Amino acid sequence: MRFPDGFLQEIKFRNDIEDIVSRYVPLKQNGSRLVACCPFHSEKTPSFTVYKDTKSYYCFGCGAGGDVIYFMMAIENIDYLTAVTKLADIAKIPIPEDDSEYRDKMIRQKRIIELNREAALYFHDNLISLKTDEGDKVREYLRKRGLKNATIKHFGLGYATSSWNSLTKYLSEKGYSKDEQRAAFLCGVTKKGDYTDYFRGRLMFPIIEPGGNVIAFGGRVIEGDGGGKKYLNSSDTPVFKKSRNLYALNFAKNSKRGYLIMCEGYMDVISMHQAGFTNTVATLGTAVTSEQARIISKYTNKVVLAYDSDDAGKKAMQKAHGLLSEAGIEVKVLSLDDAKDPDEFINKYGNKILENYLVKPKGYVETKLDGIYTKYDLDNPEDRIKALNESCEEISLINSEIEREVYGIKLAEKFKISSDNIIKEIKRQAAKRLKKEKSDFINGELRKISGYGDRINPDAVKSPAAVKIEEAILGLLMQYPEFYGDTKYILSEDMFITEFNKKIYTAFKNAVEDNSLINEANFDTALITKDFSPEETGRITKMIVANTANVVNIARAANSNNNVNINNIKNTLENLVESLKEQNKINGEKNINIKEIAAADDGFVKFIENKRLQEQLKKDIKR
Ligand code: UTP
Ligand code: MN
Repeated sequence: MRFPDGFLQEIKFRNDIEDIVSRYVPLKQNGSRLVACCPFHSEKTPSFTVYKDTKSYYCFGCGAGGDVIYFMMAIENIDYLTAVTKLADIAKIPIPEDDSEYRDKMIRQKRIIELNREAALYFHDNLISLKTDEGDKVREYLRKRGLKNATIKHFGLGYATSSWNSLTKYLSEKGYSKDEQRAAFLCGVTKKGDYTDYFRGRLMFPIIEPGGNVIAFGGRVIEGDGGGKKYLNSSDTPVFKKSRNLYALNFAKNSKRGYLIMCEGYMDVISMHQAGFTNTVATLGTAVTSEQARIISKYTNKVVLAYDSDDAGKKAMQKAHGLLSEAGIEVKVLSLDDAKDPDEFINKYGNKILENYLVKPKGYVETKLDGIYTKYDLDNPEDRIKALNESCEEISLINSEIEREVYGIKLAEKFKISSDNIIKEIKRQAAKRLKKEKSDFINGELRKISGYGDRINPDAVKSPAAVKIEEAILGLLMQYPEFYGDTKYILSEDMFITEFNKKIYTAFKNAVEDNSLINEANFDTALITKDFSPEETGRITKMIVANTANVVNIARAANSNNNVNINNIKNTLENLVESLKEQNKINGEKNINIKEIAAADDGFVKFIENKRLQEQLKKDIKR
């Protein structure tokens, strides 16, 4: 995808990064920096920084970073094109008409949405009026599970027949190509090359996004048919990303209850809605993702988890609790007693009883403590001690000290022990945990610096020293692309020893040399970052903002009027290229054995050449 000359730069130029970020998080001036508490991870002291001069943001806590387009993608959970469109809209810049690739993509998305709608209607029609044994069976199945006709209609439920290609045939007649049907994940190809329906003999649940479009499907086998997985779900398609959507959010978002209920399954959601709990949603066959947590936080700050009562459900609940809390959501837990899931609960006890349970759902910690109490025989002294220890450990996991104390006192009352001792024990365990978390974090950061276990740039381990120089060069060049002309004769792609940095340099070079740039100074990171993942973009931004800060400061200081001294940057770049050459020569002779380093227990610490950086980092983390 290629936008015409200058369009992306104009998007960035006309959407001031400070303005856009301020729409989502309050920015504070801190010296020369604009900072905020990072919206992408939970923190109490602000490490999210906006750089007006480079039109970028970077979080020193979690490594998120990028330009205004990337910020929009991340905070709104939207893809690149949608973000660009949105920003164009805000700045009232028309989307270029002649961008055929963009237009093609939009047309394709629209076609798939229409196709999904046709398929949903087709499935629904099957379910209502199919005059075959199959039709009778699925209707009987739904009746047995207690679904009313109005509910079936409301959710647009349907039926995919067991035929190999009835849907494919139907959609082809409607003018949708095989390619489009495949892209929508409704049709597959056999080894022989025949096209077949993906969902066969299944009860169909259309997934509808908050805007009302059918974006995907889930399909459940009809009991007795066995064969294959119980549920099949659409994979990601051009209009659907599983991790970014929630089942029934299109209805739940209109609920006036002020909180959302979250279940595991399609049928749970439908039963809950039918029983009047129209504020219920479900994840789509996966554990909650951080993206879903952020989407939820846009609609509410309270969630009640109503997960299955088996072990898998408990595990999923723990994960959901973590992610939702991180997104600033208060989490409560609905305990289902002897029902396996909410659907079964409603069918067993009815909605009145569920309503009672929902009036005062228990807090997450209380639920966990109850779980511990029931596990042990509290009249037996040995068990009692075990239960007490486990409870203290559970409470020590709470982040707020006040909350820890409240639960500590409650625990003391329950076990009839002095609360002082209990609180002391909880404090001790919390301190131990914090210390471990801190040292894990420091070690993680040290590893990152040493290039050890660097996921974004895995071959950084080959030579941390060279990588640091590579990053400094790239950061400076991207901020001052006008010096490309000076360095291109002394710097070449093959001087970059890591694939990741080489890719950045190549992308940079292509963008600058591309005829559409009138001169190098028109380079903008937006031109290359679209080819990188959000994490990678974060790293690129870091190179620009973190590595160049020092150089630029020196260059500024050398000039009485506080302007950047251009010659200094040029010299610095040339020196850096020289050092890189030097370093590559040394590496060639040294031939580092990576496996040996990885095996050595404290290998990564030894591997850091820069002692001062280590000390600085430790100081930074302590602050
Ligand atoms: P469950 O197995 O708990 O099913 O899976 P359920 O919701 O209780 O369904 P019924 O009551 O038997 O009809 C919970 C959810 O996990 C996903 C589905 O989203 C399902 O709703 N799942 C389950 C799959 O994606 N694939 C599977 O094979 C099973
Ligand atoms: Mn169920």
